[in-house]
Amino acid sequence: MKSKVFGVVLAGGSGTRMGGEQPKQFQKIADRPILIRTLETFLQVPEFTEILLVTPAAWTDHSRKLIEQYLGQQPRIRLVEGGTDRSGSLMQAIRALDADGALDEDTILVTHDAVRPFVTVGMIEAGIAMAKTGTPAMTVIPATDTIVCSVDGKRIDQVPDRTTMYQMQTPQTFGAVLFCRCFEQLTVEEQNTVTDASGVFLRTGVPVGMVAGAKTNIKITWPEDLIIAEQFCR
Ligand code: CTP
Repeated sequence: MKSKVFGVVLAGGSGTRMGGEQPKQFQKIADRPILIRTLETFLQVPEFTEILLVTPAAWTDHSRKLIEQYLGQQPRIRLVEGGTDRSGSLMQAIRALDADGALDEDTILVTHDAVRPFVTVGMIEAGIAMAKTGTPAMTVIPATDTIVCSVDGKRIDQVPDRTTMYQMQTPQTFGAVLFCRCFEQLTVEEQNTVTDASGVFLRTGVPVGMVAGAKTNIKITWPEDLIIAEQFCR
């Protein structure tokens, strides 16, 4: 059976670390807002039935106008109001699809941080290919720096072998029904504290695969990331 594949571009955050008058996803890199750059890449993937753009409720109208201004009429993009945290925003997208009766065993979600505008079609397609085999696909890159673990933030408890360490990026791509089934198995506390989809799968014993990200697939978080991003666009 042919899978239905949905993009879920998460743009519901407030960008407090970045600061500025608008949440960072609406700020520009060179000539175009960050979330527009991300959507441009998603729109290049023919497999998407729809691309859900999750934004803060107060920014829905603004987002609609930006899409019209930069991308024209885009019937595949649907706006969804976000939640209070990233997981809540993902759940809002899942609820919107569920309300349409769009969720079944073959439905695949490609979830992505809107503030990673240098995602490539290749990364998206690699995740879809893995998720179609039933394995959730997380985009990662090998850790460059040695990662240390400190519980109290003062003393180092562990120095894991760097060759086994990776940095998580997005897209994170997986079966929607599998995700919901795993999420329901978590305790309420786990549901409230889990930060991303990989945690949901791992806590419920579902093997999670990795696909190759890139050093350029940065998450724009701090003001200096905008400077780096501008350089990537030159
Ligand atoms: N996100 C979301 N809904 C939320 C919070 C975050 O869709 N309630 C999205 C952000 O818009 C971003 C991605 O998740 O594309 C990663 O969020 P992150 O940058 O960690 O959080 P922000 O809230 O955007 O920024 P900050 O933590 O600095 O306030």
